[in-house]
Amino acid sequence: MARLRSSYVCQNCGAITQRWQGKCESCGEWNAIIEEGAALGVAAAPARRGSAGRAFPLEDLSGVSKPEPRIATGIVELDRVAGGGLVPGSATLIGGEPGIGKSTLLIQACAAVARTGARAVYVSGEESTAQVRLRAARLGLASAPVQLAAQTLVEDIIATLASGDAPKFVVIDSIQTMWSDAIESAPGTVSQVRGSAQALIRFAKASGAALLIVGHVTKDGQIAGPRVVEHMVDAVFSFEGDGAHAFRLLRAAKNRFGATDEVGVFEMTGAGLAEVPNPSALFLAGRDIAAAPGASVFAGVEGARPLLVEIQALVAPTSLGTPRRAVVGWEPNRLAMVLAVLESHGGLKLGQYDIYLNVAGGLRVAEPAADLAAAAALVSSLTGAPLPHDAVYFGEIALSGSVRPVAHTGLRLKEAAKLGFARAFAPPALRAESETAGAGAGATPIGSVASLVALIAAAAVESKTRGKPSERATTTTAAG
Ligand code: TYD
Ligand code: MG
Repeated sequence: MARLRSSYVCQNCGAITQRWQGKCESCGEWNAIIEEGAALGVAAAPARRGSAGRAFPLEDLSGVSKPEPRIATGIVELDRVAGGGLVPGSATLIGGEPGIGKSTLLIQACAAVARTGARAVYVSGEESTAQVRLRAARLGLASAPVQLAAQTLVEDIIATLASGDAPKFVVIDSIQTMWSDAIESAPGTVSQVRGSAQALIRFAKASGAALLIVGHVTKDGQIAGPRVVEHMVDAVFSFEGDGAHAFRLLRAAKNRFGATDEVGVFEMTGAGLAEVPNPSALFLAGRDIAAAPGASVFAGVEGARPLLVEIQALVAPTSLGTPRRAVVGWEPNRLAMVLAVLESHGGLKLGQYDIYLNVAGGLRVAEPAADLAAAAALVSSLTGAPLPHDAVYFGEIALSGSVRPVAHTGLRLKEAAKLGFARAFAPPALRAESETAGAGAGATPIGSVASLVALIAAAAVESKTRGKPSERATTTTAAG
């Protein structure tokens, strides 16, 4: 056998170098490279003798294999993200920040599968069995026949799983705590994580168990340790949320067995994670009923799901030389762009104002379609005119000042109508689509930021002259 050579592995990205370096050349991280022993055993490829290869029969695409029924966890939001339940023999990596609820979600799923009579195993490398039991008791799952273990040695885990009935559902919490005898480096290193994951995945494929692996994420949101684990598994889900708010989103970043645009929505409650079948209602729950200026409702789409959320803006005279621009839940660059367009094409003067923008409920909106809703909230705050309470906004604003169509118009309108919004301010090109959408909210086309500003300014004049009926009649006709 050749002498085992150790190599130097970046603990951030998994890159291998021949010698130690202070900075990883592939990801730029400092002090992330450590020496790791060469892998053997579970991680290494099976030893081959120098014989000639053996021919195997090839198959055609139509095939004879019947797809096995998927394993429904009974947690609808999780099953939806997985593409209609988990596939037997598949491996899924679930990433998320500490404390976001990964362990809670998986113990709930594990208990639900165990209650169907299938063998479901939960292996925790982070908590003792007593701690997991305590949590399960709090969640009302103590009676579920989950098989529990607090173990970290992969060889032992696989031997345990392989004895007795074939398990249907296996949770490994978390992969960073697992280690294999056959690998020399310390637990948590890239080699250990990769080797352990490989061995567990191989077991899942052979036994037909659905394997769920928890993975920690680094501060910049990537699954910690090797990106290679992401390549090895069939699906990668990320569990996101904001510690200050109760909602959690489960997204598929990769899924070999389903669409990646599905999103599962949960709410963290005192009794664990509750599914949220109607997320828009959750996000609009705390909305001010008294119409105040500076708030608009954005008809957004997360993945393939419509999601209404309130966008709040505050435009206030500044006392600083350089006015402040602060934004939470949206991209600062997009805010800067929308402000520039409002100044150049909407005739607004914003240089003397501090501007704050907030997406209510702690959601992060990434869609350009939010431009129009943000602009409406900004203009409303500046003019002091509240926006109509029963209206939603969506549309992408171009640098030319025009409002451009966005995807999923029908979906947005339908969701708005479902939640009682009678009006939608949207890009003009949606006519045909809105008719096919049928039950959607009535859409008012907004072709440019100039017409948005005119519309809101007209409402401002109207609200100022309210109480003087004669004047009001003239201003409304002038605005129309
Ligand atoms: P956990 O599942 O341990 O997170 P992770 O495994 O992703 O690190 O979730 C821990 C958090 O969830 C903790 O801050 C408390 C909260 N929580 C609830 O609010 N309600 C509950 O019923 C449970 C079990 C946890
Ligand atoms: Mg945990």
